[in-house]
Amino acid sequence: MSDILSGVVVSQAMGLEMQGGCGRDVQDIAEEAVARRFRLSGAAHPFLVLLRRRAVEALAQSLCAGVSCELPAPRMPLPPEVTHEANSGVAPGDLDGLAERARLPALPQVFLELQHAMEREEPSYDELAAIISKDPRLAASLLRLVNGPLFGFRAPVETVSRAVAAAGTRRVTSLALGTFVLGLFRERPPHVVNLHDFWLHSVATALMARALATRMGRDDPERYFVAGLLHDIGWLAICAVWPAGAERVLDRCRDLGETLTEAERAELGMTHGEMGAAMLRRWNLPPVLVDAVQAHHAPSEAPASDEALLVHLADEAVKAFGIGGTGDDCIQPLDTDATGLRSISAHDLDAACEALLEGVDEMYAVLGAGARG
Ligand SMILES: [Fe+2]
Ligand SMILES: [Fe+2]
Repeated sequence: MSDILSGVVVSQAMGLEMQGGCGRDVQDIAEEAVARRFRLSGAAHPFLVLLRRRAVEALAQSLCAGVSCELPAPRMPLPPEVTHEANSGVAPGDLDGLAERARLPALPQVFLELQHAMEREEPSYDELAAIISKDPRLAASLLRLVNGPLFGFRAPVETVSRAVAAAGTRRVTSLALGTFVLGLFRERPPHVVNLHDFWLHSVATALMARALATRMGRDDPERYFVAGLLHDIGWLAICAVWPAGAERVLDRCRDLGETLTEAERAELGMTHGEMGAAMLRRWNLPPVLVDAVQAHHAPSEAPASDEALLVHLADEAVKAFGIGGTGDDCIQPLDTDATGLRSISAHDLDAACEALLEGVDEMYAVLGAGARG
């Protein structure tokens, strides 16, 4: 069982005034805690039934293991100066204005060079290693990744070139982007969301989306990892730049039972998917990623985007397990109009859940350490 998962799920269960122990009480507590997460999910699609069952099992296991932890921190009221600032200068629906105010840094040179090299045919490992070695943080993250339990090599991998060969060239590029984005907003932590919980949710969604893509035999599972990693980045920007608006959105979800997208449309005149897509366009990231981020809550609106569909499902799974969080931690209704949903088997979903629970601690440690430098 993942340490991160144990801590998070139990802290949520603590709201039910029970710690540790094993037996029927534990099962009841786990079911009640998970039912809270599913209260807005609507009709019981078989995938939601599966995720709910697995989430109860995971939580009950944690409680049986007697993991103790603290109550989740309540959302603090915004300071008056933040509320005031947030009420001026942001127009509902002004995506570009908001993206401008987020003062996004440029993508790191090493990522651009890697992308460029990947566009050519079959770049050599040495060539990629030379690029990566220009960024010591990235080189360290890569070595940490391939020497960690996810890869399970007996002998240590000591050179960047061998590490590239072990990890695979695509995975190295997503690692480079991952260490960059995890450092975003570190200098000015956003209000409303907790940055650690936010990135944990994002890394877990990335892992789950990649695990689904791998199970389903997709060509380039790393693309799904990157889409998962970035899927909620628009929400992070909204929380940083328009905290009062973000808070009103969460209040509507809680008080009126609206979905996140409904509340965002009403309060902000935009969704965090649209905001994230605007940010990715500014970074000149490929349209396939832009579409995935824009439609991750409504993949039926982008039927050609398989990435949007798998990230949608991955997002739901991660919320079901209570891994990290973005402030709104209720599972949203599944977009059953997305026809691609029928091509996914319950067996694949189940296996991807297993991969998620096994890998999330390690991946977060690798990316988080890289982002801290
Ligand atoms: Fe989202
Ligand atoms: Fe999400």
